[in-house]
Amino acid sequence: MTRPVPGFLWGAATAPHQVEGNNLNSDWWVREERVPGMERSGDACDSYHRYAEDMRLLADAGLNSYRFGVEWARIEPAPGHFSNAELAHYRRMIDTALDLGLKPVVTLHHFTHPRWFAEEGGWMGDAGIERFETYVKAVAGILDGVEWVCTINEPNMLALMVGMSRAAQAAQPGETKKWMSPTVEGAARPVLPDPDPDVGRRLADGHHAARAVLRKDTDAKVGWTVANQALTPTPGNEDRLREIRYDREDLYLEASRDDDFIGVQSYSSQAVDENGIVPHPRGPDTTLTGNAYRPDAIGIAVRHAWEVTGGVPIVVTENGIATADDDRRVSYTSEALRHLFDAADDGVDVRGYLHWSALDNFEWGHWKPTFGLIAVDRETFERSPKPSLAWLGEVARRGRP
Ligand code: FCB
Repeated sequence: MTRPVPGFLWGAATAPHQVEGNNLNSDWWVREERVPGMERSGDACDSYHRYAEDMRLLADAGLNSYRFGVEWARIEPAPGHFSNAELAHYRRMIDTALDLGLKPVVTLHHFTHPRWFAEEGGWMGDAGIERFETYVKAVAGILDGVEWVCTINEPNMLALMVGMSRAAQAAQPGETKKWMSPTVEGAARPVLPDPDPDVGRRLADGHHAARAVLRKDTDAKVGWTVANQALTPTPGNEDRLREIRYDREDLYLEASRDDDFIGVQSYSSQAVDENGIVPHPRGPDTTLTGNAYRPDAIGIAVRHAWEVTGGVPIVVTENGIATADDDRRVSYTSEALRHLFDAADDGVDVRGYLHWSALDNFEWGHWKPTFGLIAVDRETFERSPKPSLAWLGEVARRGRP
């Protein structure tokens, strides 16, 4: 039986583009307009206006933390032009969380960019890092009292997306390059392509530049959050696994060795055989994003992150399941927490568990995969907490699974 960990973060997570609505100035909004067949974020969950209600539901249930993001496209609508009103908006969100007893875990970048940044060449453009650094300096000014800051969400998935956008731009007219949602079509195909390591190294530079700013200007603990596929070798394929995993994960975990924490995000696990990553097997348990039902993934992921980072404290910044069956969500999460706390009992320093997601939200081009502890009516925006929210809140009050 595991004992409660004092100060452990028990919470839920969201990302601005997925819940706020009308993120007009972002590159994802442009993509949603251009790509045929892609669903739009639109009003999303209107959390831009309803964040206080969202946070209150989490706090009332018994959670003590909320991970949310600030949106670069709103804060810096044109290069070098910062909106004080938007910065004040996000400061109000931080204050609301603190007043409700929710420790804010603030993400500075979660997949989306201002349109102008993408048009200027994005991360691989000459000014990429400097632009991000300037934005981070502006945000640092509103982070008083925030203990946890994530610079870039899933840089490994972002590198993959940047690579795909570049390929789409380079395509000949008439050549169709359908945009791939990182989480939905990705799982439906045999496997995701490899992220480009040059983009990955550039993102690591961006992360380190942001970390330096935040360490100078704030008291926050700084880290980034890495997507962990919880890859395991079939017998005899240990070397193949190591090779495949490097560009997908380990490059990013190594870049966090001097961080204050590493955010671990895992949903499912896959095997590696002599041909590479084995596609998710299909079955009645397959989740709405096409993943295998693998609640053990988070245990594999935190142990691996702990090993590669050389003992950087871990916060599980995302873990959850896309399902329409809330009982399934409770079973998955309760099993995942057992695996997580087994790792903690074995000496892995785990500081928190932030469930993905607080709300049913816009899953990068799709609305069907529902990950939320709270359902949202897309017409009226009415929130309906699911039994899984009360259940997780109860675990949080107890302080252990
Ligand atoms: C992660 C993303 C998050 C959400 C979940 C399901 O890759 O960080 O925004 O899409 O997957």
